[in-house]
Amino acid sequence: MTDRAPLVAGVLGWPVAHSLSPRMHRFWLAGEGLGGDYVALAVRPQNLAAALAALPALGFAGVNITVPHKEPAARLVHRLHPVARRIGAVNTVIVDKRGRLEGRNTDAHGFLAHLQAAVPAWRAEGGAALLLGAGGAARAAAVALLDAGLDRLYIANRTRERAERLADALDDPRAHAASWQERSALLKEVALVANTTTLGMAGEPPLDLELSLMAPGGVVYDIVYKPLETDLLRQARRRGLVAVDGLGMLVHQAVPAFEAFYGVRPQAAAEAYAHLRAALGA
Ligand code: ATR
Repeated sequence: MTDRAPLVAGVLGWPVAHSLSPRMHRFWLAGEGLGGDYVALAVRPQNLAAALAALPALGFAGVNITVPHKEPAARLVHRLHPVARRIGAVNTVIVDKRGRLEGRNTDAHGFLAHLQAAVPAWRAEGGAALLLGAGGAARAAAVALLDAGLDRLYIANRTRERAERLADALDDPRAHAASWQERSALLKEVALVANTTTLGMAGEPPLDLELSLMAPGGVVYDIVYKPLETDLLRQARRRGLVAVDGLGMLVHQAVPAFEAFYGVRPQAAAEAYAHLRAALGA
């Protein structure tokens, strides 16, 4: 007799209580009429290797990986998907039939899919963009934008050498490091600016950016989603620019992960977004 237990997946982080992933995946599980579950797993950094190694024995279909485990997880899986290798971080681990772990990264997909859904007229080809920040989120956004066919990508970061390291690691002549002081002046050159820093997050200072320098029709993408409407996005809307919030990226990065865990591609991205908005009290 085979044990056809319902599929279980989860999110592994430290801390993890704040994660919106369980709400989102359970919303889709219920909506698609699937059994199975999705749980939050609080795993300390020193236990990451043991937790990942235990997934096959526990019968997990896979897990999402969140702060602070995304980069260490990339070194602990048996196989790395090429996109995860380029980003240098894993946000999804899939347990294959033989019990081996594949590390994937769906953040780049999430970044771009949400941008395309929110601004259907936006085109990467021939365009330029400015990324603010040089952490893991910036890396995923950079890979997404370069793969989409962007002409020029500027990366401005408070610590300039980190921007330079990211531009070097991308190993692409279209990627240019810039200094933090140049960030407003660079708005004249780009049709998209994306904030991947923690500035503007609840409890953090606001992001100071001179949006009046951006041409009409410009897109301002803030991956911060707490609060959902950051000062940056409010200012962008006030100036008639196109504002894109960070919650959609969270929803869209979860779509391929859900499909890999449960074998069904969830159709209800817009409904999941509304569900999470309500959960955030927006
Ligand atoms: P993640 O991997 O989630 O993107 P991270 O690696 O902690 O997060 O990166 C946070 C980003 O916010 C970095 O680009 C950081 O700049 P530094 O590389 O100079 O640290 C940026 N950041 C955080 N606080 C900032 C501040 N007060 N002013 C400017 N940038 C800030």
